[in-house]
Amino acid sequence: MPGYGNLLRSLSQSTDTPVKANVKGSIPDWVEGTLYRNGPGRFKFGEKFHQHLFDGGACVHRFRIQNGQVFYSNKLLDTDSYKKTLETGRLTTNFGSVDVESSIFERFQKFFKSSNERKDNTNVNIAPYANHQLYALTETNLMCKLDPKDLSIDATVNVTEYIQDLKTTFAHPHVEKDGTWLTMGANHRGPNGPEFKFVRYKGGEEGAKAGNACEQAELIATLPSSYSYGYSYFHSFGLSENYIIFLEQAVMLNFKEYFKNTVIFNGPLCSALVTDKNLPTRIHLINRKTGEIVDKKFVTESQFTFHCINAYENQDEIILDLSSYDADYFTTAVYSYENSHSDKLLADKSIFPLARRVKIPLNKEDKGEIYCEIKDLKSDFPFEFPVINYSRYNGLKYKYVYGANHYKLPFSVVKLNVDEPTEFYERIYGSELERQIPSEPIFVENPEAKSEDDGVLLVLVLCEKNDYLSVLDAKDLTEIARADIPEDVKSAYTFHGFFASQETLGKLNV
Ligand SMILES: [Fe+2]
Repeated sequence: MPGYGNLLRSLSQSTDTPVKANVKGSIPDWVEGTLYRNGPGRFKFGEKFHQHLFDGGACVHRFRIQNGQVFYSNKLLDTDSYKKTLETGRLTTNFGSVDVESSIFERFQKFFKSSNERKDNTNVNIAPYANHQLYALTETNLMCKLDPKDLSIDATVNVTEYIQDLKTTFAHPHVEKDGTWLTMGANHRGPNGPEFKFVRYKGGEEGAKAGNACEQAELIATLPSSYSYGYSYFHSFGLSENYIIFLEQAVMLNFKEYFKNTVIFNGPLCSALVTDKNLPTRIHLINRKTGEIVDKKFVTESQFTFHCINAYENQDEIILDLSSYDADYFTTAVYSYENSHSDKLLADKSIFPLARRVKIPLNKEDKGEIYCEIKDLKSDFPFEFPVINYSRYNGLKYKYVYGANHYKLPFSVVKLNVDEPTEFYERIYGSELERQIPSEPIFVENPEAKSEDDGVLLVLVLCEKNDYLSVLDAKDLTEIARADIPEDVKSAYTFHGFFASQETLGKLNV
């Protein structure tokens, strides 16, 4: 994402001890708990730095909110990758960065034998499991179980040790009320080629007894890739009352390109992700309870989605809303550190993600491909980092989605009525000259809510002076309070997070 300038920070140390923020305005007394966020907090290590936005060292941020007061702290996670880089000065190979000192011999060894390299830079998301454990997540085979008190790493859990054919984890688990996770991963070498694995990490009573989430992992379904030469990149999936809705899309992890670009020429992983605008988007439905894969070939236009907004069943169709990029233009390599810093991509509307709606006709019978209509919900404004009133409306008919605009200056937080897209709100942060970066907005519902949007949005805003927590009324995005972090304490860019209520904090034993 472009145009972050100096605000795309590289922290050199954590702020472990919470600092009191200066609150202006009034935070409702029912907003009590902790906002957790995770993202790339450290890019620079001496003369070397990570070359891609997705690669900075994981940093978890916390805003403790109680009695209208706010305390901020952050922690650069002590992952093996981070410690190794500090000790040796060598960057670990990552999504868009490489270890320039690695030899072709080392890379061949890693490719053909199991590698000891621990790709544990879990900087994408942070989520509670079974209501009593806390995990920092990324998309390798590892996830970090954190001590909720001090954010030290309790255990680095390797999912492959629990489900042999599952080679990757997932950064966007769907979290059910009893703390169950629905997730997925990939197996590069299935018996008939690459395949996708859908997994449930059971919460409830079983989850309460688990030492880690993977102890309660069970395979729901295995879906073969439609292509033998690789598999579609995936980052999230939709969930309706009865179905997992998974998209095979235009960005492919191509095995040949991987071997050539990364093993032989020491390129980053993203150099093996190839966008093919001629590939349709294949839509797969999997019964979320039985694991049965619906035997129909649903397709729609070529596109790429990081984040599914929501999905629901509506009589004889499934509605699936996406934050979707045009396959003609999208590559993951555009989010290089250089591009993310600079204004290079700001004027380029072709890379805007748009809120789009796909309609999947459940009753249509056809042995061939069944085309699903896809339409822009709003074609004149970029829409990413979608957030809904998740605990009440995930998988169900809903009306409102909130998001962050990091593509069009000045940056902003937005709200869209998906039924009536002319109802659109924008809360601008900073200006074109004095930029501020708002994070993904996290929705916290009023416990006495009378409507879907009765609550607040919590937004971490990065500025040249004081970073701050912005508290918005979710109805119209007016700012009702702001908590300024002292100027000598800096926060950093984040991707995702969640709000832990007092009750959740109690279960996490914080
Ligand atoms: Fe994400």
